[in-house]
Amino acid sequence: MINFNSNSIVALLLSVIFSFLFSVNAAANTKLNTEPNSKYRAEFTLKKTCPPSFELMEDGTCELRNMYQFYNSVQGRGLGGTQTSLPKHRDGFTPAQIDLGRYLFFDPALSKDNSISCASCHQPEKGFSDDLDRSIGITGEKVGRSAPTLWNVAFLDKFFWDGRADTLEEQAVGPLFDAKEMGNSPEHLLKTLNAIPVYLDMFKVAFPNSDKISIADISASLAAFQSTLISLNSRYDQYAHGHHDALNENEIKGLNIFRSFVARCAECHQPPLFTNNQIAVIGTPDPEGMPFDIGAEKTFNNKKNRGGFKVPTLRNIAKTAPYMHSGGMKDLREATEFYNKGRGHAIPEGEDLLIHWHIWEPDLQDKELDLIVEFLQTLTDESLTPKLPTKLPSGLPVIDRKYAQQKQKQQNNITVSGDEDE
Ligand code: HEC
Ligand code: HEC
Repeated sequence: MINFNSNSIVALLLSVIFSFLFSVNAAANTKLNTEPNSKYRAEFTLKKTCPPSFELMEDGTCELRNMYQFYNSVQGRGLGGTQTSLPKHRDGFTPAQIDLGRYLFFDPALSKDNSISCASCHQPEKGFSDDLDRSIGITGEKVGRSAPTLWNVAFLDKFFWDGRADTLEEQAVGPLFDAKEMGNSPEHLLKTLNAIPVYLDMFKVAFPNSDKISIADISASLAAFQSTLISLNSRYDQYAHGHHDALNENEIKGLNIFRSFVARCAECHQPPLFTNNQIAVIGTPDPEGMPFDIGAEKTFNNKKNRGGFKVPTLRNIAKTAPYMHSGGMKDLREATEFYNKGRGHAIPEGEDLLIHWHIWEPDLQDKELDLIVEFLQTLTDESLTPKLPTKLPSGLPVIDRKYAQQKQKQQNNITVSGDEDE
């Protein structure tokens, strides 16, 4: 009892201190740093070296190195095989472009009212996702879908749950100019960045051939930064590369069920990325009160894709609950159990979906579902998590207010009463 009380007092004190710090911080830092001759300007230099696991090429760009490059094609080893190659990685960015992208990614100056950054919904410590069913944008309203992880995103060739963007560059303008996400417009964003001397300097270094800041260069550096979010050194990977004791007996059993032709998970969540980069109709439910999400039918203008979504990677999956496009499944057990409940069991009445043929009735036992979940936890590797910038070119706080409050709630696990002063 005594222990419990003193802990909660400490937690309460911490929370008061934190909310004080953050409110001071937020109040002090809503003005953009536009002073051309400030000392601040000299405090930023873009990196000249590639991030870990990338090699600097003669042409000045960074190229990814990893163990999977030594393996042959997927076909060589059969589906679900461990020593299979990866799809092509989107690299070829310079260290300066990658580093500029890191600043932009964390900078709330990219949103219309300087309130949120990409990192507000794609938080590094939450698997570059958030812990919400559906993310919250600048209007305070929830957006239509859950924020996917950004780990290994540069191996993909379709973006968004419904596959509506083909490149990372095309993807980035989505949230920037979506009224419910960052709410910006190209004109306003360019005006903002052009008024920040540090960014003027940085864009010149990162894009020496451009005579001014452009949306294309902003998207390119965001893509450059995201291309460095590599997670390929989990315990599973060590096992795949031949270190048998990297997984325990249960985890190996789980892996074998996962890739068996009974469970069929690996048919879609194909190693090593744990996605086959395709759209599949599997018939997950939308939460009560939400309209039926037609998914990729809209993208491809094809009824066959009704209710179809991109097969998500399962890398760092233990970090990104809740699950599915709707964020409707709270944990990995629930997400795994979905596949065992019968083909098409959650399709709403009146809908006629073309469920993928690998979704069937595997009839797994409880124990087997548990083993799959145990295995999924071995896909965690965050060793290449990039460093958060300590300060931003705009002068705004690195961790914006919304993100900070979520973080703080998580840290001391008690509700914060700091919202009123907004
Ligand atoms: C308001 C929260 C929010 C913000 C801010 C936000 N995102 Fe997202 N992001 C999402 C959601 C939600 C999705 C999925 C939307 C969908 O599929 O329709 C998504 C999807 C993505 C994807 C696609 C991933 C995949 O596997 O298909 C990428 C990449 C991405 N965001 C990067 C960014 C970048 C870069 C920024 C900043 C410019 C950003 N996001 C800002 C919530 C957000
Ligand atoms: C036919 C292809 C297919 C098969 C087979 C399949 N999945 Fe999936 N999986 C998907 C798709 C598509 C989604 C996204 C569905 C949605 O959001 O509505 C998904 C989502 C998930 C998610 C949530 C990921 C996230 O980021 O939210 C988990 C966990 C998962 N699957 C695990 C499994 C397991 C375990 C199995 C085997 C029992 C399996 N899947 C079999 C296609 C498949």
